[in-house]
Amino acid sequence: MTTQNNHDSASPSKTFYLETFGCQMNVHDSEKVIGTLVQQGYRQVEDEEAADLILYNTCSIRDKAEQKVFNRLNDYKKLYRQGKRFGVLGCVAQQEGERIFERAPFVSLVSGSASYRRLPEMLIQIEQGATRVTGLDDRQTEETFETEFTARTNPHRGYITIIEGCDKFCAYCVVPYTRGKERSRTSTSVLAEARRMADAGYTEIQLLGQNVNSYRDSEGKLSFAELLAAVGQITGIRRVRFTTSHPRDFTRDIVEAIDAVPSLCDHVHLPVQSGSSHVLQMMQREYTREQYLERIAWIKAARRPISMTTDIIVGFPGETPEDFEQTIDLLAEVQYDGVFAFKYSPRPNTPAVTMPDSIVDEEKSARLQILLERQREIQRINYNNHVGEIFEVMVEGQNAARAQVIGRTSQNKTLNFTTSQPIMPATGNYLPVRVTKSFPNSLVGEAV
Ligand code: SAH
Ligand code: SF4
Ligand code: F3S
Repeated sequence: MTTQNNHDSASPSKTFYLETFGCQMNVHDSEKVIGTLVQQGYRQVEDEEAADLILYNTCSIRDKAEQKVFNRLNDYKKLYRQGKRFGVLGCVAQQEGERIFERAPFVSLVSGSASYRRLPEMLIQIEQGATRVTGLDDRQTEETFETEFTARTNPHRGYITIIEGCDKFCAYCVVPYTRGKERSRTSTSVLAEARRMADAGYTEIQLLGQNVNSYRDSEGKLSFAELLAAVGQITGIRRVRFTTSHPRDFTRDIVEAIDAVPSLCDHVHLPVQSGSSHVLQMMQREYTREQYLERIAWIKAARRPISMTTDIIVGFPGETPEDFEQTIDLLAEVQYDGVFAFKYSPRPNTPAVTMPDSIVDEEKSARLQILLERQREIQRINYNNHVGEIFEVMVEGQNAARAQVIGRTSQNKTLNFTTSQPIMPATGNYLPVRVTKSFPNSLVGEAV
């Protein structure tokens, strides 16, 4: 990052506030946006009141996420009278486009993620007084947003986006419309970024993509599994994670890479969405329950135990009680270590929005509740099976009140532990910890 005061001393200091909603891709985009703004002479502040420019990096995956953004804009519109400028970035920006200027006339910048490489020029337009600046590239963009000025906040663990956008068009999902066409970076640039991070002291890298394993090297050099292995072999890199994997593109060589390269974490997040082939077909997921379970069998056959997590949507239009039962059944069969479950939310532009949303909200809630309870029981047993085992953890922080250190295992499980050492281990350290106790979502232990 450059210094924060390289702006013209005659002009007042330009400050910005940025709030991020949504997934890890958005979190990482924000790190790149912050780096770009700082490069343009802006300084980040933690309080809206102190900012000249207020930015929201938004999510529209479910209706609630989108509403949050408009509520936030409404709450703060009074600041506009104090001369502050507002910008909406991310998925709601791309989805709603210029309609945002109608709903929130005090907003002067609307930009989707596919246009961030044009941020410097858009900022200049705003500084010159323009009131309706847009970056709304359509799905056709071939470019990815790469910058040397990424403002990573954690000095030990960092994200690298390897593929942007989505071409899968699941019937319920906004992402193909909000993030544009699927496009991968070159393996050369990904590896160069990973090496720079290793040189700067990072030990954990998380490779990101809406469908990270759909990666297709735009130079044609490496497959996704080969890229994983190559990042994992960089000197200094001790952990590599990757998210999110799509079942359709999940190949056996990914499991073989995890087996071969110890730094590749033993965790796969593989969203299933539903355990019923009938619902999967209506969702346009393009795999069946059986094909999904075949991939799970590959993962279970690995030489070291690989933790599995998933995403599930309940109450998709036409999901019968029998379909739902098959999802519950699948939970028992796979034995996930974590499930992110959501009630189906009809979204603009998607094919499913025209299907009758036949399941009433109370029924969706009831199904969600049943699912979460079943899954909690599975996790209670899974986590309890770790008692007595020793795991290497990366230290993530300290909980002084409880005299505990917060650690994370390669399987991505939280392991809070005590130590007999007079000084608590620092964040970013790695050390072995024996598990002494378990909860459905975390482990407790002591350093060995
Ligand atoms: N690309 C990933 C998912 C990204 S979106 C994949 O295909 O697996 C993250 C999760 O949000 C999805 O896995 C899905 O479970 C959920 N989701 C997406 N659209 C949704 C909608 N309209 N209603 C409810 N949940 C949704
Ligand atoms: Fe959405 Fe499907 Fe693409 Fe995942 S694969 S981002 S669920 S359209
Ligand atoms: Fe949300 Fe966009 Fe991510 S819709 S989940 S921020 S890709």
